[in-house]
Amino acid sequence: MRAVVLVGGFGTRLRPLTNTVPKPMLPVGHRPMIARLIDRLARGGVTDVVLALGFKPEPFIEAFPDGRCGDVSLTYAVEPEPLDTAGAIRFAAEAAGIDDTFVVANGDVMTDLDVAGLVATHRAAGAEATVHLIGVDDPSAFGVVEIADDGSIRQFVEKPARGTEPSNLINAGTYVFEPSVLARIPSGVRVSIERETFPSIVADGGMFGHSTDDYWIDAGVPDLYRAANLDLLGGRRVHESAEAFAPGADVDPAATVTNTLVGAGARIEAGTTVVDSVILPGAHIGARAQVESSLIMGRVGADATVIESIIGADGTLDDDDHLAYSTLPEVD
Ligand code: GDD
Ligand code: MG
Repeated sequence: MRAVVLVGGFGTRLRPLTNTVPKPMLPVGHRPMIARLIDRLARGGVTDVVLALGFKPEPFIEAFPDGRCGDVSLTYAVEPEPLDTAGAIRFAAEAAGIDDTFVVANGDVMTDLDVAGLVATHRAAGAEATVHLIGVDDPSAFGVVEIADDGSIRQFVEKPARGTEPSNLINAGTYVFEPSVLARIPSGVRVSIERETFPSIVADGGMFGHSTDDYWIDAGVPDLYRAANLDLLGGRRVHESAEAFAPGADVDPAATVTNTLVGAGARIEAGTTVVDSVILPGAHIGARAQVESSLIMGRVGADATVIESIIGADGTLDDDDHLAYSTLPEVD
């Protein structure tokens, strides 16, 4: 089976990390999140993936130079301009010549969903589109559905105002589509799958939900990107795990590093305390610095303190400085 993976967004909510690395190429457990996502699609029967690229396509092509990720064959569709989610799906599916039932995935979703089960639900219902659904406490930041007893979706509303959500079941960002979905999407213009295409399929009675209680995180915001990493240490994932320190991480034996991932080529000096954080490849944490609940790609000076903050590759916190609930460089 073939799949389109959406990886062309700007990753705005993860700036300044995404100033230098596109969101789906950011590591989760020392591997690009897109590689973990493609592995999962492969476990569910996907053999070919077309990456719907836009913003910063080069790092993807460089990461998979032979057009393969594990056993999955990769092709690339680079949009001339951002076409939004539906426009990107149509552009990529046409570029790959997709003409049969196919899978679509948002490139920032880390989940234990069994994709084969989603496909089975789709076929059993005779659906035109089937959406993976997850129950959450605060659905307003997501696409939210109202579902009937037979699994058909009665209403799909993208990011409703808090208090107006029709249920707590959200669009978890993995779909199975019939090729007829593509014919609903105007060609070459910006179209949102969530705001335009899904409501039209719902109106025609062709959209179904596949609700599970699998592990699920949209890693596109800082706290959840950090959680997606830390959860790989805690044995919370069914198929996946990670070591705290990547091969090539340089952690001084006199540093105290707790519940933290340290990437290849990152250096943590003596006397530091690092807790609940992700220290990304190439980062440098100076002697006796303290880092808590943060994402660090750049440099933290000696004796500096960082709390719940993000330092991009182009950020440096000077010796003895403090950074709390903030980013370096600043983002607007
Ligand atoms: N190629 C391309 N072109 N990709 C795009 C574009 C575009 O113009 N715009 C967004 N994307 C990609 C992003 O890179 C991401 O992988 C995916 O589309 C979804 O965009 P996000 O920006 O992450 O959307 P979201 O998290 O606010 O909401 C979406 O995901 C939620 C679940 O995580 C929606 O699908 C919601 O309905 C859903 O609940
Ligand atoms: Mg997202």
